[in-house]
Amino acid sequence: MYRSHTNGELRIENVNNEVTLCGWVQKSRDLGAMTFVDLRDRYGITQLIFGEEHSEGAKALGREDVIQIKGTVIERESKNKNIPTGEIEITVIELTVLNKSKTPPFTIEDETDGGEELRMQYRYLDLRRKPLQEALKLRHKLSIEIRKYLDSINFFEIETPYLIKSTPEGARDFVVPSRMNPNEFYALPQSPQTFKQLLMVSGYDRYYQIVRCFRDEDLRADRQPEFTQIDCEMAFVDQEDILNTFEGMVDYLFKKVKGVELTAFPRMDYATAMEQYGSDKPDIRFGMTFNYINEVAQNKGFQIFDDAESVIAIVAEDCSTYTRKELDKLVDFVKRPQVGAKGLIYVKCNEDGTFKSSVDKFYNQNDLKDWADKCGAKAGDLILVLSGDKATTQNQMNTLRLHLGDELGLRNPNEYAPLWVYDFPLLEWDEDSQRYHAMHHPFTSPKKEDMHLLDSEPGKVRANAYDMVLNGTEIGGGSIRIHDKETQALMFKHLGFSEEEAKAQFGFLMNAFEYGAPPHGGIALGFDRLCALFGGQETIRDFIAFPKNNSGRDVMIDSPSPISADQLHELNIDLKAKTEA
Ligand code: AMO
Repeated sequence: MYRSHTNGELRIENVNNEVTLCGWVQKSRDLGAMTFVDLRDRYGITQLIFGEEHSEGAKALGREDVIQIKGTVIERESKNKNIPTGEIEITVIELTVLNKSKTPPFTIEDETDGGEELRMQYRYLDLRRKPLQEALKLRHKLSIEIRKYLDSINFFEIETPYLIKSTPEGARDFVVPSRMNPNEFYALPQSPQTFKQLLMVSGYDRYYQIVRCFRDEDLRADRQPEFTQIDCEMAFVDQEDILNTFEGMVDYLFKKVKGVELTAFPRMDYATAMEQYGSDKPDIRFGMTFNYINEVAQNKGFQIFDDAESVIAIVAEDCSTYTRKELDKLVDFVKRPQVGAKGLIYVKCNEDGTFKSSVDKFYNQNDLKDWADKCGAKAGDLILVLSGDKATTQNQMNTLRLHLGDELGLRNPNEYAPLWVYDFPLLEWDEDSQRYHAMHHPFTSPKKEDMHLLDSEPGKVRANAYDMVLNGTEIGGGSIRIHDKETQALMFKHLGFSEEEAKAQFGFLMNAFEYGAPPHGGIALGFDRLCALFGGQETIRDFIAFPKNNSGRDVMIDSPSPISADQLHELNIDLKAKTEA
């Protein structure tokens, strides 16, 4: 037996027990006659005391050496209230060094001195740190509870293949050459979308899978090239059934894993979300919704507003005392290329009922009072205004609103504000390719009442599509699907597929639709994002054991990497021919 207990287990009740412990040396303190060592494993830290008889062995111990000790549990004189084992310590009787360690390149403690890149290179050491272990523990716990919940309502977990044909969902595919089929490629799934629909045709009724997906897209804090979805599909359901089922799941997870009761799960249509927040994933933990003030701001000689399609104002409550410097900072913020506004207008609603604005030349006190009334601003508030074409201004104002939310501490990570956004547009215009693309994916059904617009105003057709949003992050998206061949063919036509192309890419699905496809729909939640939100973090990286860095590299195993000429030859890939061509 290697160990009788873990390092997080022993308590005052264990005093006088003879125990055997194993773990890593976190720290040692040499006090002359005695040496104190903190022994660490996944479960916690236990303090060891080595007396004079073991002093040589103890003094030779280095950080991260793996040891086994036998000893007796005793009560500590000075107790450490911060750790569960803080009331006891072990007097060591026998020490065995199981494996020496080189000095690690950074400290393995909650706060480490290692930089990002170094920690990624030694990810296995970084994973020894408690914050990362907590993150992976949370991920494990969530996956167990998700399975319990879905199992309890008759979902089957069914695996779908990783070597597939590409499903166009917006991102690029990662492809895998086939040795046995020269010059042909598999694609790694961006999601199991078509397979889960086929499972509905097969009558499985309720499917789920906690599944890896692959997308070759630019990385951000909440994006990885391989990530995990909680992918679900249901037959004989409408949108309401799906929203209720997954609202139920998220409620359940919050209760079980965080002990939090979600009090509300509001719903908002896409048009309202864009109008009020300039975003299809509004953070509704705070207000500051948009006011369209064209009516009171235009035709007063201020050319910039007069020329604008939209003049949009938000109100920062109790911020009229912002100094010149603070206001300049906001102006600089919106002028950054990432935001792209030309300028920012402000109006201070002073406590004495007067107004001070950056456009006093054009607007008198009465005009500014009209602005304040229109925005519902009160004395003490600050009004911030952007203008331009509607979509761009909404987008810029969304960025400013979130920035202010952060600055004013209105985005508390311990507060949870879930939201359904529904009635997304079916299609979106793509400037680059000069054609419409499916906003969600080509299998999403249009709203029946909007079908007549498909030819005349395709951009106005709404879809039976919905997103689950939590604290301003999109954690999931789904839709009610098309389940008949004719509508699916019509959809492909509108997406610019020729009949042949549609058949070559999706013939299997359209054929399946001819054999009794039930009405169906589903959703996929981003599991990594859900974990990060539960863990109160914005980046998903630490909730993935072995993530990629910002350039999509795994710096630990040094991948991607070139492959040998022989391998290339076997795969019929001739890089030279390609570059010369
Ligand atoms: P969608 O493309 O909206 O839908 O993806 C579902 C959810 O997956 C998460 N996600 C990501 N997480 C981390 N890194 C990424 N690169 C990444 N990309 C997406 C997001 C997102 O909301 N097949 C459809 C679902 C359906 O219709 O049922 C789909 O994949 O949280």
